[in-house]
Amino acid sequence: MVIKTAEFLKSSSKWQECPEPTLPEYAFIGRSNVGKSSLINAMMNHKDLAKTSQTPGKTQLINHFLVNEEWYLTDLPGYGYAKVSKVKRKDFEKLITNYILNRPNLVNLFILVDARHTPQKIDLEFMEWCGESGVPFSIVFTKADKIRPGAVDKNVEVYKEELLKTWEELPGMYVTSAEKKVGGDEVLKFISKTNDYLKKNKVNFNDGHSLEG
Ligand code: GTP
Ligand code: MG
Repeated sequence: MVIKTAEFLKSSSKWQECPEPTLPEYAFIGRSNVGKSSLINAMMNHKDLAKTSQTPGKTQLINHFLVNEEWYLTDLPGYGYAKVSKVKRKDFEKLITNYILNRPNLVNLFILVDARHTPQKIDLEFMEWCGESGVPFSIVFTKADKIRPGAVDKNVEVYKEELLKTWEELPGMYVTSAEKKVGGDEVLKFISKTNDYLKKNKVNFNDGHSLEG
């Protein structure tokens, strides 16, 4: 997919404030500091469309971007950031889960995990919750430039094995590096294909049409 336009629309502190759910929406989620905002910038060919930081907890609101005037890309706050108070962490979790459960046009979540790590409990639990809640997701491995390619492959294999303990089918998986601009095209290809499917089937998010099937 060629990115013709990518514009920041708005930041929302709750799902009720988000833009009208009229276009297909794809959201990036994952632990704080995993590289969500950086990958969005890399995919959009834009240095600072989404705000990034070396300090975890940078993104604290739901940020909507409009791409090619056709679909929404959403940057969510990271989960599991240990350095904020328990109360604040719960507030973030509520913001995220309410957004996910109340957004009728949310087509797919991209759950970002660090390619250097073996499966983490917090991510596996979040995927489990998505499964129980009927929320489609894909896994995006980030920061692949930080380790040897062979080690990335191994970690992806370990992830698959872990998921197959509880899942019958594996989700889509993408290996990326925002730094080296790798893998974002595959994610965009998936989004493009999905958008075509939705258009062909005239999916209207406001009439309760189910995305399944
Ligand atoms: P929060 O908004 O705090 O939840 O973080 P985030 O997931 O949006 O992470 P962000 O994109 O702000 O990146 C966090 C740090 O990781 C920054 O210092 C980035 O420069 C770095 N980073 C992100 N992606 C990559 C990558 O692909 N390779 C390398 N080497 N560093 C990366
Ligand atoms: Mg961020």
